[in-house]
Amino acid sequence: MNQVMDVLLKRKSIRAYEDREIEPEVKAQILHATLRAPTAGNQMLYSIVEVTDQTIKNTLAKTCDNQPFIARAPLVWLFLADYQRWFDYFLACGVEQACAEKGLPLRKPEEGDLFLACCDALIAAQQAVIAAESFGIGSCYIGDIMEQYETHRELFNLPKYVFPIALLCFGYLTQQQSERPQSPRFAEQFVVFENQYRRLSNPELEEMFRERQKLVFSGREYVEGSVNFGQLMYWRKFSADFSVEMSRSVRVILKEWLNT
Ligand SMILES: Cc1cc2nc3c(=O)[nH]c(=O)nc-3n(C[C@H](O)[C@H](O)[C@H](O)COP(=O)(O)O)c2cc1C
Repeated sequence: MNQVMDVLLKRKSIRAYEDREIEPEVKAQILHATLRAPTAGNQMLYSIVEVTDQTIKNTLAKTCDNQPFIARAPLVWLFLADYQRWFDYFLACGVEQACAEKGLPLRKPEEGDLFLACCDALIAAQQAVIAAESFGIGSCYIGDIMEQYETHRELFNLPKYVFPIALLCFGYLTQQQSERPQSPRFAEQFVVFENQYRRLSNPELEEMFRERQKLVFSGREYVEGSVNFGQLMYWRKFSADFSVEMSRSVRVILKEWLNT
């Protein structure tokens, strides 16, 4: 197996870190690789905020659905989908005047632009994950950064066309974390199709989730009041308070972005 495959196949999310800083030259290399990520139209529609202030890390540990390990991560990067920089540039280049002269309305960032900027930010984030992994540095995404938009907007001074899409925590692995097994994945046949999307039948869904059901329930009749894995995940994740909050928060961002 080549070294890249080795890094890709061995990665797992790391939520407990050695109390050890990431060396500046290593961090610089991770950043350099991050900024080499593919980007739509070579526009780099993202920004990265390195969170060094412990007070801000402590706040994030609370606002991101109470995940204390965020406060203990030696390196925390916030990935922002960013159309503000480009739109400011357009305005600085006089596009408003140019549109007026042509009798055209000024186009502002819309839904498609937001999605494209999210793609850019996430692809850059994943490049950072893999670069870090290649130095033996573990990482974990925090999707809950999409919650509590009003608080995060204030905390990071975010303008209108900047959307906090992912937070990444990095650090060297503790012994216990390096020995921990990887999480399972679904079998390929349920995820990869040829030419057309195929909706799975109930028996296929049952087969797909059989391993998870067995792993979590292991002979028990109820887990957290649920009789199967689907019900458990529905209550624990899909309809949990954090999911409801994430949707509320994203609606606020969308309203702001789309001026509705
Ligand atoms: C978009 C996204 C958001 C995530 N958010 C969180 C999070 O808020 N907290 C956390 O502990 N892990 C989070 N994770 C990590 C996942 O839980 C993890 O990737 C998954 O359980 C599979 O485990 P593995 O990465 O070790 O293979 C997130 C991962 C992704 C891709």
